[in-house]
Amino acid sequence: MTRRLPGPSLERLAAAHELDVWPHELPPSQEELLARARSANGLLTMLSDRIDAALIDACLKLRAVVNYAVGSDNIDLAAAAARGIQVGVTPDVLTDATADLTWALLLAAARRLPEGAEAVRAGAWRTWEPAGFLGLELRGATLGLIGLGRIGRAVAERAPGFGMTVIHTSRSGGVTLSELLARSDVISLHCPLTPQTRHLIDARALAAMKPTAILVNTARGAIVDQPALVAALNDGGIAAAALDVTDPEPPPPEDPILRAPNLLLLPHVGSATRTARARMAQIAEENLLAALAGRTMPSAASGA
Ligand code: DGY
Repeated sequence: MTRRLPGPSLERLAAAHELDVWPHELPPSQEELLARARSANGLLTMLSDRIDAALIDACLKLRAVVNYAVGSDNIDLAAAAARGIQVGVTPDVLTDATADLTWALLLAAARRLPEGAEAVRAGAWRTWEPAGFLGLELRGATLGLIGLGRIGRAVAERAPGFGMTVIHTSRSGGVTLSELLARSDVISLHCPLTPQTRHLIDARALAAMKPTAILVNTARGAIVDQPALVAALNDGGIAAAALDVTDPEPPPPEDPILRAPNLLLLPHVGSATRTARARMAQIAEENLLAALAGRTMPSAASGA
């Protein structure tokens, strides 16, 4: 286990198996991970651990990899499948938490909350002004969802309360990506990170958005070409962005994303409610116990 999990899962796993739990706050380096994983039958990993083909090949006894996340883009699923290693994830239980955070980001960016809050604290807010801190009225605005899986649908479900029109583009239908980019006032990403979606939001896609558009990302940082986003924010190509995820995470101190204007950045907290994280631990535990007992994992990664 590359991190301690919240709740009683650790004790339950320890009752059934010998556990090696990485004791530090920061993740293991690839070398440290490989050294500790080499003799393991099962791995319980975080989205920050890279479970690539080299690591999988080096772990001869490995039968199961369970990610403490709904995403599995940090795991080489093909390499695992080739070795008959089961891969599990923690779906469903974080859907509402992530959809709520998407709306928190959307609302914060639409109403320029970071800018307003900063002005008040810095003493830069001088008086109420008719045209001070004007933002986007949500009623009547169009929300474009890229990806309509569990989280995308949960985001869409919340839209009628705000009077927004929802359009989407996904593998199974909706409008075309170019129509979505041209029509949306807010664009929110809910697709997995795959070779096909890496840098889906590149300079061309950003140029196709309205100059008043807001981009929200609670999926994976690498779906967005980050230098292109920084350029679009600096040049006024789009109005604002609100990101829970970046590429890499965290951004190094010299990364220009940290200085881009009209940008709200969060530390990847989409699933960070006590309820979601406790349920994720339970699903991870169930996945691991099943696979180590020779059964099929209840929550396997799709494509695994
Ligand atoms: C996930 O589960 O993939 C989220 O990004 C973190 O919980």
